[in-house]
Amino acid sequence: MSVAEQSIAGAEARGHGFLASSVGRKVVMAATGVVLFGFVTVHMLGNLTSYMGAEAMNHYAEFLHTMVHGMGIWVFRAVLLTAAGLHIWAAVTLTLDNMAARPTGYRAQQNVASTWSSRTMRWSGFILAAFIVYHLLHLTTGTVHPNFNHANPYANFVNGFKVPAAAGFYIVAQLCLGLHMWHGVWSCTQSLGLAHPRYDSLRRTFATGLTVLVVGVNISYPIAVLTGFIH
Ligand code: HEM
Repeated sequence: MSVAEQSIAGAEARGHGFLASSVGRKVVMAATGVVLFGFVTVHMLGNLTSYMGAEAMNHYAEFLHTMVHGMGIWVFRAVLLTAAGLHIWAAVTLTLDNMAARPTGYRAQQNVASTWSSRTMRWSGFILAAFIVYHLLHLTTGTVHPNFNHANPYANFVNGFKVPAAAGFYIVAQLCLGLHMWHGVWSCTQSLGLAHPRYDSLRRTFATGLTVLVVGVNISYPIAVLTGFIH
């Protein structure tokens, strides 16, 4: 079966409800995007404790793991996993539907209508997904960490970024996060019904400001370790 046939079969299997419509799935993408984006912003702020030293960062990590009698982190993980799963599902099915609806001859025209950022959504999203898997194996489970110590997240953070290849991958992944987030915030405010010429410059300023802040601070972590500022 060709990609187009598979996609049409998939669309038929999804039925005719809200989630089967492309508008419904765009709303799912936008709503889950807000959850994921909120997490990334809070996570970036939480990691600022690394600039306050080992005690502050380890204290913060302990709080995350013990809040609500240790249940909090599991609720939070379930929400994140559900949001990420729905986000990827909506992205993949919308992409397949688009491919089925557009014959190959349309490609040039399609590129004119879409921005450079929107065209990069797919590959930046793919690199981000790979980064998240690596990141969890690196700093949460320690599986790919050179010397992981469950009791000392600060040491894991510092020793992890002392490896230039690992720090380099984090930096590249944050740049992909920037592309993904900028376009994501921009188009999600559109899917949630906020697109209006009056609000466009506000939307652009919001998307750019928040993206630069999150990416800039996140990139500062591996750089601070590599330069010995955090040690
Ligand atoms: C340079 C940037 C980043 C740094 C320094 C960083 C640091 C950390 C650290 C130290 C942990 C372990 C916390 C602990 O177990 O106590 C962690 C966990 C995690 N990080 Fe990051 N992170 C960064 C970027 C990101 C990004 C961009 C994402 C998502 C797109 C992300 C998603 C996660 C997730 C899902 C966890 C697991 C939380 C849990 O235990 O359930 N991180 N991060």
